[in-house]
Amino acid sequence: MRGSLPISRRSVFKLRQVGIGTLGSAKIKILLCGCVVLSLLAIANRNRDSSSFMGWTGDFDRSSSPRGRYSIVINTWKRYDLLKKSISHYTSCPRLDSIHIVWSEPDPPSDSLKRYLNHVMRSNSRKDQQVELVFDINKEDSLNNRFKEIKDLKTDAVFSIDDDVIFPCTSVEFAFTVWQSASDTMVGYVPRMHWVDQKKGENKYKYGGWWSVWWTGTYSMVLSKAAFFHKKYLKLYTDEMPASLKEYITKNRNCEDIAMSFLVANATDAPPIWVKGKIFEIGSTGISSLGGHSERRTECVNKFVDEFGRMPLVPTVMKAVDSRYSWFW
Ligand SMILES: *[C@@H]1O[C@H](CO)[C@@H](O)[C@H](O)[C@H]1NC(C)=O
Repeated sequence: MRGSLPISRRSVFKLRQVGIGTLGSAKIKILLCGCVVLSLLAIANRNRDSSSFMGWTGDFDRSSSPRGRYSIVINTWKRYDLLKKSISHYTSCPRLDSIHIVWSEPDPPSDSLKRYLNHVMRSNSRKDQQVELVFDINKEDSLNNRFKEIKDLKTDAVFSIDDDVIFPCTSVEFAFTVWQSASDTMVGYVPRMHWVDQKKGENKYKYGGWWSVWWTGTYSMVLSKAAFFHKKYLKLYTDEMPASLKEYITKNRNCEDIAMSFLVANATDAPPIWVKGKIFEIGSTGISSLGGHSERRTECVNKFVDEFGRMPLVPTVMKAVDSRYSWFW
């Protein structure tokens, strides 16, 4: 009797262990298979707007109020092929209300250009929206024109762009949602920085280009070649920007974007927001590839500090990313 107990115990134990073992590995296999299938489904569904995964579509009600849409203000100068490319691209983006072309050439837009653009607008527009195309004709040729107040603008949000960069609609859409969370702020894809120039003493600054931003992760401006801001800043720029500063911009054909960054920072005492987005440069001879670019920009920064009586720009290290596309968390 004494000896039999441990034996029977052991055998029961063994039996159980085997039972757990076989059942366990089957369960684990099923679980693993399930995980793989779910992951594949999730990956397959993730980037599609309209399909649903377990009823999670990632879509939500997009309001049709003025806050729910935006207007594009595009600055262009005698580069009709780029203009055509840009416009035919953006016309297909959701939540776009209108496109304003800032026209500063001596001759008005030709009939053939207008015809072409109207045709493109009709054929590329999404079925659920009617996008309006407006030429804002200016007599004077000045970079300040791009920030002229637009009287009949229906949306609060302005997406200011140059004609030589293209952003996919998903990137535009994302920046717009970021702007909606902070509508007093400038939200853009091209960050720049002002650095204190210690060699030159106090209140002297150096313009920091892309590499310095990349190296330090710090920025204080986003350039208006690709940025969202509230339409009230167009009025502010038109009415409140010191005339001497505007003349300087017209004369030097540069730095209107730095001026806008100063204006918004001066009004908000807050930094802009840099959003991650894909950029496609379609015109290669940008002004930034010309020599002496950063010296001229440095000159602008210091000139504007004098005009404003202080340095309004606020540095930050925050970057907004689309959580759907940031891996894992
Ligand atoms: C900058 O902000 C100050 C204080 O709010 C204001 O008085 C001034 O008019 C602003 N400057 C410009 C150019 O908008």
